[in-house]
Amino acid sequence: MNCPQCQQVLRENARFCDGCGLSVGTLNAATERAQELFETLPPPDDPLIGHTLDAKYQLIERLGKGGMGVVYRARRVLIGDEVALKILRGELVAEDEAVGRFRREARAAAMLRHPNVVLIYDYGEARGDDAPAYIVMELVKGESLRDIIEGEDKIEIARAVSLMREICAGVGAAHRRGIVHRDIKPDNIIVLPPDEDEDRERESVKVVDFGIAKLRDPSGGGTLTQKGFQPGTVYYMSPEQCRGDDLDVRSDVYSLGAMFYEMLAGAPPFMAETRTGVISKHLFDPPRAFAEDLRVPPALEKVIMRALAKTPEARQVDATSLARELLEAERQERERHEAERQREEAKTLRLEKSAEEERLKQAAEEERRLREARTVPSDDTAKRRQERADAPLPRTEPAPPPKTDSSRAKATEEQPTQQVPTQKLDFQIPTNKAPSPDPISPVM
Ligand SMILES: Nc1ncnc2c1ncn2[C@@H]1O[C@H](COP(=O)(O)OP(=O)(O)OP(=O)(O)O)[C@@H](O)[C@H]1O
Ligand SMILES: [Mg+2]
Repeated sequence: MNCPQCQQVLRENARFCDGCGLSVGTLNAATERAQELFETLPPPDDPLIGHTLDAKYQLIERLGKGGMGVVYRARRVLIGDEVALKILRGELVAEDEAVGRFRREARAAAMLRHPNVVLIYDYGEARGDDAPAYIVMELVKGESLRDIIEGEDKIEIARAVSLMREICAGVGAAHRRGIVHRDIKPDNIIVLPPDEDEDRERESVKVVDFGIAKLRDPSGGGTLTQKGFQPGTVYYMSPEQCRGDDLDVRSDVYSLGAMFYEMLAGAPPFMAETRTGVISKHLFDPPRAFAEDLRVPPALEKVIMRALAKTPEARQVDATSLARELLEAERQERERHEAERQREEAKTLRLEKSAEEERLKQAAEEERRLREARTVPSDDTAKRRQERADAPLPRTEPAPPPKTDSSRAKATEEQPTQQVPTQKLDFQIPTNKAPSPDPISPVM
């Protein structure tokens, strides 16, 4: 694995990068997580497997374990289909006040109907040790965004934007109803692969655990914190959440920004060795700029940094607004690309044109040389011509003495056919080939 800041290869289990000193303890999370997964593998003796809750849900298999409880694949006994069932940790539902908060939030979340939000079907309240509190949800057959990030190190920009827009669409639908998710993190995003059978051309996402974090929300009494319960992953918590203040939808906007940052950079915006260290950075440090080699478009970086603003007022007002800004950044980037492509194309055309002009010039030059070679006599011909020019002129007879009239007549007699050279006439005397009419012949 490489350091997200300076790309130095990291030593196994290193806590700091040897190149730039960045704290990279969390990057080894993959190894830790593998260990964690190993530990949370369905124990063969899980007493709940095969158990039917409230005569309605038969637990088939353990899907995973989180901070709030354990998730099972279950069968609805009466309907026969499969669902996901999350059994909440006992201590979370022991407090009446917390349960009340959760019940209100879960009801609101259950009203949510959106293609990017996991459907909540049912909810069961704890009634003693063998009847735990649970939530019944749509069973999503996909991979968590956490697993994708860890598997691929980081996500390619276009894919990350496309996933983010779907995530924001789901979270935005909740925000419009005043529901705050409170625990946006890659573990709570399930990515579904394209599936022809399900009419899904592209990969898609489902956001899970809406409002469930309300159960462990330290605001409203701080009961859970008092119990020593540690809130969830700290890397995505907004500054106000770190302080234990009241939250509104803009807290989710911050978490979305932090998650998006991690998708692109391969590591969250704030990392430290301790939980308090991360919290302190959320509260006081500006997020690190993206490394240049990540080639995150400036417009996109701006949107993410706005979502990561320390004060809620400086962020996008909700997830829908964040999605809109992402779309706009994408459009700007496309335009920038297009302008760059056109510039490149014009440059290539210009180069091609001047190469063609050069080629034509050379061809013309060649042609001229060939023509000259044809018209300039060869040395032999020139020599012969010169010889001819130098040759003596033929001898001329002396002029005869002037002739008398008689001799001129004699000469005429001697040369009756010799013609006096006639000068060529510039015009032609019309010749009348038809015989002229005989003036004495009778008129017919
Ligand atoms: N509706 C669901 N369909 C399929 N798998 C699910 C569903 N809900 C949760 N999971 C999976 O179950 C596992 C455990 O989820 P869980 O929510 O308990 O853990 P978490 O998200 O890591 O922690 P947290 O308790 O803080 O939410 C995760 O791998 C998650 O992807
Ligand atoms: Mg979860």
